[in-house]
Amino acid sequence: MQTAVGTDLLLALELLEKGQLVSIPTETVYGLAADANNEDAVLSIFKAKERPTSNPLILHFANLEQALPYTTDFPAIFETLYARFCPGPLTFVVPKSSLVSALITGGQTTVALRFPAHPVLQQLLNKFERPLAAPSANLYGQLSPTTAQHVESQLKDRIPYVLDGGPCLHGLESTIIGLQNERVVIYRHGGVTSEMLAAQLGYVPDVKTQEESGVLTSGMVKHHYATATPLFLGYKPATASETSLQITIGPKEHISGPHIILSQNNSLTEAARNLYASLHQADAANATAIYVEPFPNEGLGKAMNDRLNRAAAKFQ
Ligand code: TXA
Ligand code: MG
Repeated sequence: MQTAVGTDLLLALELLEKGQLVSIPTETVYGLAADANNEDAVLSIFKAKERPTSNPLILHFANLEQALPYTTDFPAIFETLYARFCPGPLTFVVPKSSLVSALITGGQTTVALRFPAHPVLQQLLNKFERPLAAPSANLYGQLSPTTAQHVESQLKDRIPYVLDGGPCLHGLESTIIGLQNERVVIYRHGGVTSEMLAAQLGYVPDVKTQEESGVLTSGMVKHHYATATPLFLGYKPATASETSLQITIGPKEHISGPHIILSQNNSLTEAARNLYASLHQADAANATAIYVEPFPNEGLGKAMNDRLNRAAAKFQ
């Protein structure tokens, strides 16, 4: 199968209607989308990504009204958060209705709902009038794509079309939240930070791991979001090879060898936007190792440290 990259919204719609896969732009990372109401189409997502079917998919909608039939309970506190942050990088885990196939949820009784902000995807979802099931458009365990070209290089010849919506604005996956004992909890850090949620909730949401919550999210798998090149958190030691590459948040003196700066003015927002693209670039540069300066453990820094720790775990 040949993979085309383009901006043809009607072609994307036509392919999705026929049960085919299309990579879609979102404000976080590129997704690999299929008609969520077509089980064969959903199954082909797992095949193309080589992803285990036990790992559930997020349903994407234009707005809450479209999503309500797919859940039996969208709690009032989620409506408040929806009004504040959506469309945007926040995913809600809620009880599923009978409209949701067990294939989407990995057999769980809950389903993840998201309302992406990218204008092209908003148009597509409004026209499609059904949910799109979409994980990130990378091979399982590998780096998430933030440009159409990243998708093409990983999924070439596996999918017919990549809808190009330009580089992703946020560059990090959505924050995933659930409700436990009447309290909002975070399953995966992302674009909507814990501090932003706390300002709405009046308390700091707990962060739940896989063991505590009994649900599996790839954000919880230890090795994930990984580069092919060995990756370490920290600064490259003086003894490291000259072909080791250093990534820093802002400009830094005394770095020898290849060096990527995520943000010229030390902005975490800009660093998040550039993080995956820089890791793709570092991977393609044939470096012997990649060292990444750790982020401050606040705001978006938490989500970035989380992804990098999982990538680095592969090489420990
Ligand atoms: O920003 C994003 O969320 C991107 C874009 C494409 O929307 N999507 C994304 O999908 O990151 P994916 O599949 O790579 O990660 C979604 C995570 C998975 O770790 C999955 O296990 C978790 O969401 N998830 C899905 N349904 C769930 C559920 N019912 N309960 C808990 N976690 C769930
Ligand atoms: Mg993913």
